[in-house]
Amino acid sequence: MPSLRRAAKGAQPPQLPSPNRRQWFRRRLLEWYRRNGRDLPWRNTGDPYHILVSEVMLQQTQVDRVLPKYAEWLAKYPSLAALADAPVDDVTQTWRPLGYNIRPRRLHAIARESVERYGGELPSDEATLLSFKGIGEYTAGAVLSFAFGQRKAILDTNVARVLFRIFIGVGDPKSHGMKRHLWEVSRTVLPRRHVFDFNQALMDFGATHCSARKPKCGTCPMRASCASYPFEAATE
Ligand code: ADE
Repeated sequence: MPSLRRAAKGAQPPQLPSPNRRQWFRRRLLEWYRRNGRDLPWRNTGDPYHILVSEVMLQQTQVDRVLPKYAEWLAKYPSLAALADAPVDDVTQTWRPLGYNIRPRRLHAIARESVERYGGELPSDEATLLSFKGIGEYTAGAVLSFAFGQRKAILDTNVARVLFRIFIGVGDPKSHGMKRHLWEVSRTVLPRRHVFDFNQALMDFGATHCSARKPKCGTCPMRASCASYPFEAATE
């Protein structure tokens, strides 16, 4: 009988990493981040609004394009109140070089609602954050862990790729069921302390080391126990 692979339809979801493996992963990842993490402006602030702006920009485009726009945006709209006061056309115009889309309008609406209902502050509870249009599970996790120091997991494309490669290796990383499972993995591997660094490290490791096309497996601190090592890129 041919062996049945885990990824087969109807198969049980893969298991979550064991406590030993979680510990191993946290240590290796944080060690990697101490040596290789990038010094980015949104890593030197605890201001929830600034972090929200950075995360919404980073969902749209790469770090090097975000850097100047992030600085310009905060110079122009330094607070939620300042953003709420600005005409929406001005706000979409400022955003325009990043692309034409709904994100600046949503940020503007979040600013207005925060001023009207929450005293000009971004709320620090998950349910209220998720009630804003434009804040999904990822953005809520990022704001709560980076700005409010809460123990909340994140999962964006980069993080999903890292967790899938290291802990799963087989199956469709983009399927709905896998995404749900990867959220669970992200919650499971999250340490009790150093949540800020850990989540930033996950993103940086995915963006710069365990990249989509050319992961640097040869110098990867996780390679000895990576479910995808050595990663073989699809041939072109
Ligand atoms: N992409 C999304 N969020 C990010 C962050 N905080 N740092 C670097 N890249 C990111």
